[in-house]
Amino acid sequence: MIKVGLIVGREWSFPPAFIEEVAKRDQGVQVEFVSLGGTAMDEPVDYAVIIDRISHEVPYYRTYLKHAVLQGATVVNNPFMWTADDKHFGASLATRLGVASPKTIALPNREYIPGINHDESLRNLRYPLDWDAIISYIGLPLILKDAHGGGWRDVYVCRTKDDLIEHYNGSGQLQMIAQEFIEWEHFVRCLSIGQTEILPMKYDPRERKYVVEHEHLPADLGKRIVDDSRTLMRALGYDMCSLEFAVRDGIPYAIDFMNPAPDMDINSLTPHYFEWTVQKMADMAIGLAKAKRDKPEVKHGEFLLGRRER
Ligand SMILES: Nc1ncnc2c1ncn2[C@@H]1O[C@H](COP(=O)(O)OP(=O)(O)O)[C@@H](O)[C@H]1O
Ligand SMILES: [Mg+2]
Repeated sequence: MIKVGLIVGREWSFPPAFIEEVAKRDQGVQVEFVSLGGTAMDEPVDYAVIIDRISHEVPYYRTYLKHAVLQGATVVNNPFMWTADDKHFGASLATRLGVASPKTIALPNREYIPGINHDESLRNLRYPLDWDAIISYIGLPLILKDAHGGGWRDVYVCRTKDDLIEHYNGSGQLQMIAQEFIEWEHFVRCLSIGQTEILPMKYDPRERKYVVEHEHLPADLGKRIVDDSRTLMRALGYDMCSLEFAVRDGIPYAIDFMNPAPDMDINSLTPHYFEWTVQKMADMAIGLAKAKRDKPEVKHGEFLLGRRER
């Protein structure tokens, strides 16, 4: 049996459904929960693939997963990319790839750890910030949000310069970005599995709910969203991710697509989309598990790029 390891948090619906689906396929691949309690530096990893749903909240898991990559496991998602991503990089990357992105500016942090002295430690920073220049580039209203955020924490709509300064002053040690607010007429959230399978779902951000409505996109807009999603996922190398598009004047702006542990709960996805997710996750895990693998060459650091060619 080839083994796939699963690392999960408190989610209850996806793990058993996924384990059962892979078992049912009868492909010589078996999923089990990874069991960890301290990792020696030369410890072998006997998983062909590890699916990581929670290392953003458990740093030791992330450390173990980087070790697992070095030992030849394919980790979904690549822990090196996950550690490095942020929403400003995402916006720049999208723009370079020809995917519409809201204008974005990375801001210096408002506060620092106690050892940082503003005059001595921050000689590379210009103060005060030129708020008028920032606003004239981005426009108003704008969104101020955590460059590393998730789960809607620390996302503020700022309608005036005073709003912006007030929320920035409350941002503490977070690294914030200011971003053009997309006044959308339609909002789409996609799940992406294995970099190619894309499920664009109608999403209501106000209710934070998916809406099952299969004809919600005109064909050309749907195609552009699927193409843009594939472009972004290939560039990032993420094998499971969700992407959010805010559609304004018919143009889908990619506003949030660095979600390497996307929500896969049956209640938020609805049973219909949940079933799609379980099927595609099983396809992806089995495909990667059966791909030939050796311990990666590490001399030139290519292993940092994550999975190798199948
Ligand atoms: N540039 C934007 N334009 C319009 N709405 C936005 C923008 N950025 C974020 N939002 C709204 O705020 C929500 C949360 O922001 P998001 O970047 O998705 O953060 P998180 O990673 O916490 O989900 C989005 O789902 C969207 O409704
Ligand atoms: Mg989001």
